[in-house]
Amino acid sequence: MGESHEYRIQEVSEKLEVPISTIRYWEVEFADVIKPKRTDGRQRRYTERDLDQLMQIRELLHFKNRSIAQTRRILKGGNADLEQIQWDRQTIVLTGGTGSFGKHFCKLMLEKYRPRAVRIYSRDELKQHEMRQIYGEEVLRYFIGDVRDGERLRRAMEGADIVVHAAALKQVPSCEYNPFEAVKTNILGAENIIDAAIDVGVKKVVALSTDKAVNPVNLYGATKLCAEKIFIQGNSYSAARGTRFSCVRYGNVIGSRGSVIPVFREQMKTGKITITDERMTRFWITLDQAVELVISALSYAQGGEIYVPKIPSMRIMDLAKAIAPGCKIDFIGIRPGEKLHEILITEEEGRNTIFYKDMYVILPNYTWWEDRRNYKDGQKMPDDFTYSSNKNSEWLEIDDLKKLVRESASAEDQSTAAFLSTLHRLNEKTVLKMINSEEGLPETSAQYS
Ligand SMILES: NC(=O)c1ccc[n+]([C@@H]2O[C@H](COP(=O)([O-])OP(=O)(O)OC[C@H]3O[C@@H](n4cnc5c(N)ncnc54)[C@H](OP(=O)(O)O)[C@@H]3O)[C@@H](O)[C@H]2O)c1
Repeated sequence: MGESHEYRIQEVSEKLEVPISTIRYWEVEFADVIKPKRTDGRQRRYTERDLDQLMQIRELLHFKNRSIAQTRRILKGGNADLEQIQWDRQTIVLTGGTGSFGKHFCKLMLEKYRPRAVRIYSRDELKQHEMRQIYGEEVLRYFIGDVRDGERLRRAMEGADIVVHAAALKQVPSCEYNPFEAVKTNILGAENIIDAAIDVGVKKVVALSTDKAVNPVNLYGATKLCAEKIFIQGNSYSAARGTRFSCVRYGNVIGSRGSVIPVFREQMKTGKITITDERMTRFWITLDQAVELVISALSYAQGGEIYVPKIPSMRIMDLAKAIAPGCKIDFIGIRPGEKLHEILITEEEGRNTIFYKDMYVILPNYTWWEDRRNYKDGQKMPDDFTYSSNKNSEWLEIDDLKKLVRESASAEDQSTAAFLSTLHRLNEKTVLKMINSEEGLPETSAQYS
């Protein structure tokens, strides 16, 4: 007992009976699970946990003849035999490609997955022009179009393998005030996506949904619930044609524009912040996690599933303390259409839910869906399982929140810096310095910051 032992690479090599060079190679291949500490002299020091992981890797690679990719998936708690997506052969249509999710999806696609092409599909040419300045047009293509226009969607999807449907009207008050518009974009738009994808023979379609679609209390949520339902049922139209439709469902992306963090930051300048109800809890998801969830969904999807990320919760009061310690708090009462806690999986859905390390999968409950080959090793959840932000087993405490808020601010600064440096042809470090300096950004770029 007492202090846990730390091992030198030589000791690890002897324990595992594999050469040091192999351990170094595994460290590169499994960088997200093996992270030895470094001494001042840059010597590696492995913990017991590292050793356990390395033993598991040796077991899988040497004795069970698993490939590196399969081993990675097993270590992540996933299905080893899942068919790998060959990204360099995929042409993706991304509706809403100029939105917060869309831009981050493109960034990760270009940095990590390198597909053959991503076709951005959205209405506003200025946003597309701005994206073109940053990401170029080698892999990304820019299609002006509205999801209400089925013909245009059909043309945009010709020859595509995958569709990620992120376009939506998503501001709760604006959907309440313009209900027919919300229906046309979020529901009829979803129907057009389904029809076009089946007509041109797209293989997989993943649509983005929200916690607000669960027991909806506002029109935005209700339109997203309809969209979810028709995506799931869309599989019964495509049947023999082979197009498969699935959804991902997650809650507020906390750091995004209009979310609570920027609001608190702005309010704290006055020494006072507003909170609707002190009991409120929320899930915490980053854009990275949202994009990775869509990637997992694309790998697993057999049609009809709803993928929900396994993410921590936070108490709104802890977030206030992390962002604006010492500020006065005004409690203004819960707003219409607001919930105390987010629900991502209801009790009815819980009965059909299985769990992998990073996500829950709500499986469809229809007779057309019998083949469960991708889900054989998922863990079945108990019958009364629900997933709501107040009953989560993982919580972010004030210190975790402080760290995450700092990280989300610096990620925002970095993407602004990359964007501005392209516009102004300035070195990215210079722009970052400007963002963080007292003077701020030059006048001409203020509109983009
Ligand atoms: N942000 C969140 O916290 C959150 C949480 C859960 C789920 N979601 C879901 O995730 C998806 C993406 O959200 P986001 O945060 O990226 O939204 P966003 O930043 O508001 O972006 C919306 C995108 O959709 C496009 N769009 C809107 N109406 C369109 C139409 N009729 N035809 C074609 N394109 C249209 C917009 O471009 P144009 O205006 O130029 O057309 C924009 O590219 C949405 O489905 C949303 O419901 C978001």
